[in-house]
Amino acid sequence: MRRKMVVGNWKMNGSIKQNEILLQGLIAGLRDLHDADFVVCTPYPYIGQAQAMLQGSNIAWGAQNLCSAKDGALTGAVAPSMLVDYGCTHVIIGHSERRALFNETDDTAAARFNAALEVGLIPIFCMGESREERDSDWTDYIVGRQLDSIIRRFGPEVLKNAVLAYEPLWAVGADEPATPEQAQEVHDFIRKRVARCDTGIAANVRILYGGSVRPHNAASLFGMPDVDGGLVGRASLVAEKFVPICEVANG
Ligand code: 13P
Repeated sequence: MRRKMVVGNWKMNGSIKQNEILLQGLIAGLRDLHDADFVVCTPYPYIGQAQAMLQGSNIAWGAQNLCSAKDGALTGAVAPSMLVDYGCTHVIIGHSERRALFNETDDTAAARFNAALEVGLIPIFCMGESREERDSDWTDYIVGRQLDSIIRRFGPEVLKNAVLAYEPLWAVGADEPATPEQAQEVHDFIRKRVARCDTGIAANVRILYGGSVRPHNAASLFGMPDVDGGLVGRASLVAEKFVPICEVANG
């Protein structure tokens, strides 16, 4: 039985003051939920604040990206070990915004995925198709290619220590999420593709759905058999929205 998980992706939002209010709300609101896993992925400068406030709580914290190199002359980059220094346990890899706006490719995402694993961070690996790709019936091809970029390089075993996320680009930052049936169809595709390599790993790997998850639609999405929780953007910025989503995951 897979344990459900909800990850908040704050993207480039927040301030010390806003984060304090949000994290206090999450600590209080999630305190009694013990049947699912909760993570917040903050902008780099606020990871220390998340660590200071969330230590000892049932909420883990992580980053939204990392550099695949260990150290060196790489101005502006953040090494995996630095995230570990600040208590991070998770890191988002290959988010569609990084792919679209920061030249992330299958190759660079795979390198970051591996760098995360090497320091013991759990990568949350994002996949998803654009509206045009879906309309051209390319969803399986695109998502399959993104998944294969990991499995071909590193083998299916790495998915024992990773989380997968399906985020259709057309539902990210949109008015409506994918329908539960659309999400289930792609999650089922992803799981079956992993199962071609290893059925045990496929049965255990968590596949999160992301894209306009909100309190009122979380139950129908998380109720699908292969949807193991959510990767939440906007609704993770307000405790009054994130907590009810976590409650749904907690069951
Ligand atoms: P929204 O929940 O704001 O649509 O963002 C989803 C997302 O990109 C999470 O990584």
